[in-house]
Amino acid sequence: EKGGYDYFMLKEIAEQPKAVADTLLGRIDAAGTLSLDEVRIPASVLREVDKVVIVACGTAYHAGMIAKYAIEHWTRIPCETELASEFRYRDPILDQRTLVIAISQSGETMDTLMALRHAREQGARVLAICNTNGSTIPRESDAVLYTHAGPEVAVASTKAFLTQLVACYLVALYLGQVRGTKWGDEIRSVVRELSAIATQVDEVLETMEPVRELARSLADKNTVLFLGRHVGYPVALEGALKLKELAYMHAEGFAAGELKHGPIALIERDLPVVVVVPSPRGRSVIHDKIVSNIQEIRARGARTIVIAERGDTAVRPYADHLIEIPPTPVLLQPLVATVPLQVFACELATARGNEVDQPRNLAKSVTVE
Ligand code: BG6
Repeated sequence: EKGGYDYFMLKEIAEQPKAVADTLLGRIDAAGTLSLDEVRIPASVLREVDKVVIVACGTAYHAGMIAKYAIEHWTRIPCETELASEFRYRDPILDQRTLVIAISQSGETMDTLMALRHAREQGARVLAICNTNGSTIPRESDAVLYTHAGPEVAVASTKAFLTQLVACYLVALYLGQVRGTKWGDEIRSVVRELSAIATQVDEVLETMEPVRELARSLADKNTVLFLGRHVGYPVALEGALKLKELAYMHAEGFAAGELKHGPIALIERDLPVVVVVPSPRGRSVIHDKIVSNIQEIRARGARTIVIAERGDTAVRPYADHLIEIPPTPVLLQPLVATVPLQVFACELATARGNEVDQPRNLAKSVTVE
């Protein structure tokens, strides 16, 4: 049932191009128009939404963090992403015009379920993004957009995460489409480029041998830091989470802009630091700033592991290890940038003799609050 792979996680990483393609299937027509009829929240209601709140846990929370950038950019609706476990305890402000999006692979996570119950009690509409048909979270929501990752067995989420991202982008683009926001042309071009993402994920998977080799060489390290900015920031957090879950290493993700406000004090000789570099196109200001960050940490002796768009020549002189990913629209980069971090964590776990599919102390689905 592992299809020739040593671990479910390896199989599930390899299944990502198909999972991504399956999640897009039937949702984009030839003209590049989105149809999410299954969502069943009428366009008239979606046009009235004045706030989006995303609740989720763990890896799904990182997908939600990325969704915030896309939703605010394409729809101009204020959006916040919150850990489901924190949400209801602070008495959040919700009403009929709030759209709450609950993201969950299993559909059974109690923290997320309790957050959405609270939201519905306050009159908010809840849209679930879920991978498990008929599970509790979609049953208790107003609507559901299913991810089509197929069953995910490994505790550490991989293909479910990528499909959660796809679903989030679809929702963001759809909201932009029904509301006719000024980003109409961009929305149409991103929808077209989303269709190419599965192939790009496949391209990344084909170039992972140096990443595995690098991971093995770091097996005796204690700490790995991750830096990112804009949508690369949640990717950095996700890379760090994977390493904690699987390799049991001290791993932390930081927003690169925060480096100078504290984390730079942690930099010491030979410390591995993974940096997720935004596209040099698009928001090139932050690209240049992150290149400076890489220079700063390297000057202090860090070993820089740089994930950058293919053809990004500016980062090369400062990368001890360069991991190249295909060019994508700026907001879609997490779909390709996360993949090397999954492979990296999986290989490090293996090199350290850990149980990859069933990490210690963790459960696939946590049904207690
Ligand atoms: C955690 C799992 O306990 O729950 C994570 O170990 C997962 O991998 C998180 O991301 C949320 O799970 P779900 O099913 O709600 O997406």
